[in-house]
Amino acid sequence: MRVGVLISGRGSNMQALLAACAAPDFPAEIVTVIANRPDAGGLDHARTAGIAAQTIDHKAFAGREPFEAALTEALEQAGVELLCLAGFMRVVTPGFVRHWQGRMINIHPSLLPLFPGLDTHARALAAGMKLHGCSVHFVSEEVDGGAIIGQAAVPVLPGDDAGSLAARVLRAEHRLYPACLRLVAEGKVRLAGDRVELSGEFDADASILNPPA
Ligand code: GRF
Repeated sequence: MRVGVLISGRGSNMQALLAACAAPDFPAEIVTVIANRPDAGGLDHARTAGIAAQTIDHKAFAGREPFEAALTEALEQAGVELLCLAGFMRVVTPGFVRHWQGRMINIHPSLLPLFPGLDTHARALAAGMKLHGCSVHFVSEEVDGGAIIGQAAVPVLPGDDAGSLAARVLRAEHRLYPACLRLVAEGKVRLAGDRVELSGEFDADASILNPPA
């Protein structure tokens, strides 16, 4: 499966996807990386890995639609079949969502549907959560509201601040996103309305307790 990745910043999730795709048996390849900011640190990492990476600067366009038209043109030129948003900090329009419907996924740093939007780690701490985490989901017109493909949970520990919690969640993101990409590329993810049905093997007794039992 030919994958395009959209980033805005450091691109650590993009790097995790690149590392996974480097394995010979991985069922997807990253054919292009596009950043909406010329200073996105992830661009250099992608180029070092030999990936065609480019900037399409949203500021160079008169509005969201022409910016997104340029994105879609570049992605289609690269033959992208699945689009992975990885720290892409632009809200996309309903038209862009419809164009890539069922072919665009995102990673969000919370256990959705809790804490859509920004500042998820501070909000999880303020809510007194004892588990927090991340979700990979299809992109729908509602921000962070699309069908959930997979989730990873981490404990919230005494003394955590938003930074320490973010770092713990990020390590889980780097495991979850490649795992979900693999499932999508293997055809084990079926979008059924606003939910995802998964096929594959599961650990029925997997549980994360915090505090531990
Ligand atoms: C991640 O926490 C991701 O969940 C969120 O933005 C952050 C991007 O980090 N959407 P990186 O650019 O992948 O390092």
